[in-house]
Amino acid sequence: MKIINRSVVIFFSLLLMACGGKEEKKKEGFSVNREKSKTEKPAEAVPATSTVPASKRVDLENKGVGPITSLALAPDIDEALAKKGEEIYTQMCLACHRVDKKFIGPAPTGILERRSPEWVMNMILNPEVMVKEDPLAKELMAEFNGAPMANQGLTQEQARSVVEFFRTLK
Ligand code: HEC
Repeated sequence: MKIINRSVVIFFSLLLMACGGKEEKKKEGFSVNREKSKTEKPAEAVPATSTVPASKRVDLENKGVGPITSLALAPDIDEALAKKGEEIYTQMCLACHRVDKKFIGPAPTGILERRSPEWVMNMILNPEVMVKEDPLAKELMAEFNGAPMANQGLTQEQARSVVEFFRTLK
């Protein structure tokens, strides 16, 4: 009997692993597998509710806290500026941010569909204050296990070029 029970458990564990996060609601008892599914990328179209993790939440109204209060992006991407931004990103940001996957910090791909350009600029230029005073930045830091976004001492011009580079990441 014991052997049968054990193989049933193993069978279901394998089944759950094979199905990834899809089965998590039905099989709430399997805490190990639930934990695993949390680290997987959630699906693309996530509803804008407070249960959505801060890194995936869409908040285009929030301009954040810092020196940038208004920034209008031209409809077309300035390729030369984006190129400069890419160089800065590679030197100063890549250690913690990978383009298309969560690393020490979130992936910047599609960030301007989730955040206002002002918020992104303030996060780059004024992260110490942002993670204390901006509710979204605060939650984001909690989501990343308390790892703070690092102030890399960029000028406004450099930060602006990084934002232009982020626009090329789709
Ligand atoms: C030492 C690691 C580290 C470095 C270097 C770093 N960051 Fe971050 N960054 C983080 C972490 C961790 C977070 C998420 C937690 C938080 O906000 O405190 C974050 C968050 C962000 C966010 C908000 C992302 C989102 O999805 O809302 C932006 C934008 C950002 N970083 C841009 C940059 C840029 C641009 C650079 C380079 C100039 C940079 N970071 C360098 C660690 C880093």
